[in-house]
Amino acid sequence: MSQPILVVDHVQMLFFDLAEGPFEALEDATFEVMPNEFVCLIGPSGCGKSTLLRILGGLLQPTGGRVWFNGAPLEGPQEHIGFVFQHANLMPWRTALANVMLPLEIQGVPRAEAERRADEMLHLVGLGAYTEMLPRDLSGGMRQRVALARALIYDPDVLLLDEPFGALDALTRERMSWELLNLWQARQKTVLMVTHDIQEAILLSDRVLTMSRRPGRVEHEVVIDLPRPRTVDSLYTTRFIELTHTLRDSLR
Ligand SMILES: Nc1ncnc2c1ncn2[C@@H]1O[C@H](COP(=O)(O)OP(=O)(O)OP(=O)(O)O)[C@@H](O)[C@H]1O
Ligand SMILES: [Mg+2]
Repeated sequence: MSQPILVVDHVQMLFFDLAEGPFEALEDATFEVMPNEFVCLIGPSGCGKSTLLRILGGLLQPTGGRVWFNGAPLEGPQEHIGFVFQHANLMPWRTALANVMLPLEIQGVPRAEAERRADEMLHLVGLGAYTEMLPRDLSGGMRQRVALARALIYDPDVLLLDEPFGALDALTRERMSWELLNLWQARQKTVLMVTHDIQEAILLSDRVLTMSRRPGRVEHEVVIDLPRPRTVDSLYTTRFIELTHTLRDSLR
């Protein structure tokens, strides 16, 4: 048996920066993620999903509990963990290519190599023809794909995705889901993705974790036993519909 890549052990988050006193954003998150698993996290707005992801990305220190990454305590940002934020967060004055190159520049990778790798990554997410465009000239879906390419450039073991398709229309969103699924299948990564969309969660993941209202707790786990590779037809199977009901019930 392999070891979990992520262990989240009674993680709690209080914020102390408010005038009204301490604010409990996250009460108890406890779960594990295995290598190459695709796990979705679903829960009501404000229950602490983004807070939890920021903790797992090493961007925020929890006020209680512990996170373990590959058997060691997580103590800050890790190049093996890539992050796509709820909003694409691109630098407006940098082209798509220059945005994707940024993490490599910070790492001190020589320019020619950084350019080559960024270009390759943009091709992988289907933006080979848009490398020289500025974010303002790209569509919302394209911007999210640039952000995804930027997260993939390190070839991280774990991808933390915070509603990466949240702002997109239904059709673009579905296309992006398939692309993400292909990418995950081809590159064997561990993915933890926040979504509000029950169908998206079932279509993509091996397991869905549900959270309660604020202060958030990870409450239930639904194992998605649909066979892979999944296709459009998976959406119309009896099992898919059963799982939709199960998940909807555990969110009540
Ligand atoms: N730095 C902070 N200081 C104080 N409160 C914060 C801070 N960051 C988040 N919060 C609060 O913590 C709670 C959880 O926020 P979070 O962004 O994690 O929710 P979420 O589940 O991601 O919501 P959504 O689905 O709307 O994105 C919210 O009430 C938010 O106002
Ligand atoms: Mg959020």
